[in-house]
Order: sequence, then structure tokens, then C-alpha cells
Amino acid sequence: MIPIPEKLVQALKHAERVVVLTGAGISAESGVPTFRDAQTGLWASFNPEELATREAFEKNPRRVWEWYAYRRDLIKNVKPNAGHLALAEMERRFPRFTLITQNVDGLHRRAGSRSVIELHGNLARSKCFEEDLPVPSWEEGPEIPPRCPRCGGSLRPDVVWFGEMLPVRELEAAMEAAKNAQIFLSVGTSALVQPAASLPFVALERGASVVEINPEETPLSPHASFFLKGPAGLILPVLVGGL
Ligand code: OAD
Repeated sequence: MIPIPEKLVQALKHAERVVVLTGAGISAESGVPTFRDAQTGLWASFNPEELATREAFEKNPRRVWEWYAYRRDLIKNVKPNAGHLALAEMERRFPRFTLITQNVDGLHRRAGSRSVIELHGNLARSKCFEEDLPVPSWEEGPEIPPRCPRCGGSLRPDVVWFGEMLPVRELEAAMEAAKNAQIFLSVGTSALVQPAASLPFVALERGASVVEINPEETPLSPHASFFLKGPAGLILPVLVGGL
């Protein structure tokens, strides 16, 4: 059993505005590899940061498309874990609750979270590389990546790559929530990738209590009001159970 500081339990019990930021670590216990963990099998020798860029796609669109196809398939075969479920439960407990995720795996919605701000897009969607517009469906053919039915350009996953802007509406909503949070939880993220990594600091500056849940320390840890060291799938259910 992971001890949760009584001060945190009391603060959460009385909080009205709670914000949670998640990263790849929340899905680790479902069997989805995190970014900075080694990839498995076929992809073990590729660095995700070298696949998740426009330049990588321009150089080898097939390889990048296939990497995302592999991850899409992997996600189809996994289930949300106790951490995702606890966050879905939290949404029902607080008058104003905002869940912000950097994950593109859709597991929060599958766990029952209704309102999720997806900062880095979603693997399940595709868009046209040329037009930068969503492509909801296309005819499968021999070509990889498939072609845009409108302009014949290549399709790409609708996710944010390194060097690209985050979706404006989502980023604004996340910033606004962070500014108004009373309690801000940072769960399963290495807190290295901007601008998401700045959200807990925005909350701290505005006087929120920041709670970090991670088995490892991160650059956020020394600044967090509470650092709960351990896996999200163990800690979040205990935290929610105490409310
Ligand atoms: P990372 O792979 O950088 O970090 C995962 C974090 O999860 C690490 O700090 C781990 O210690 C922690 N972790 C591992 N298992 C955990 C568990 N069971 N419970 C809680 N935490 C656990 O992933 P992100 O921080 O999400 O961006 O990476 C941020 C962004 O960088 C990603 O969205 C992606 C990536 O490159 C883009 O693709 C734009």
C-alpha cells in the first residue's frame, strides 16, 4: 500500500478545480512502451524522436507510416489500466476537472473519461501531409502510405511531430486550466517535452499544489508539492479511493 500524505487527501477532498496532465507512463502498465524506454522487436533500433518528425517522413514516408501502424495495432490489443480508470472516476468527483494528455493512444476515452484534451493528437486519426486537413476515410490500395482521396498527397498520422505546433485550441484550453487549477497532477511524464512540461509550472506560479506521480524523478520533482514515487496504476486508485 502506498501511503498518501493526509495533507494531500484533505486538499483533494476540498478542491473544486483539479487538473491532470498525463504522459506515456500512464499507459505503460497497459503494455504500451513509453517514448524514452527501449522499443521492442522490429523497432528496437529506431529512436522515436528520429521517426516523429516531418523530415523523417519526407525521407522515408513508408517507414514512418509503418511505425505508426505498428503502434496503432499494438494499442488495439491493450486495455486501459487501473490508472486510466481511476482518472475517469476522478472526473465524476470534482465540479471542475480537466484531463490533459500527451498520449495519442486514446486509452483515457476507452477508460470512460469523457472530456480529454489531447495535446499531441490521436493515432486513430489520419490527415493529408500536403493539405494538413483530416482524412476520415480512404480506399486501401497497395501504396504505403495511402493516398489522400482529395489531392493524391500522402496520408500521415494526425499527431504532433517534433518541431510542429500543438493544436491551438487544445493548448489554450490546457493553459487556461493550468492557470486556474487548485491541484495539478503530473502523471507518468518525463516532464521534458515543451510546451506540456511548462503546464505544472504555470499551475505552481498561480498557487496550485502540484502532485507528481512517477516511479522515477524528473526535472519537475524538486518543485512538486508532493512527489508520489511509484506506478500510476497503483497510486491513482489509492488516491481516488481516499476521497
Ligand atoms: P516519456 O517516455 O518521456 O516518459 C515516460 C515517463 O513515465 C517516465 O518519466 C517514466 O519514469 C514514467 N513511467 C514509467 N512507467 C510508469 C508507471 N507505471 N506509472 C507512472 N509513470 C511511469 O513519455 P512522455 O513524458 O509522455 O511527443 O513524453 C512526452 C512526449 O515526448 C510524448 O508525447 C511524445 C514524446 O516524444 C511527441 O511525439 C510530440
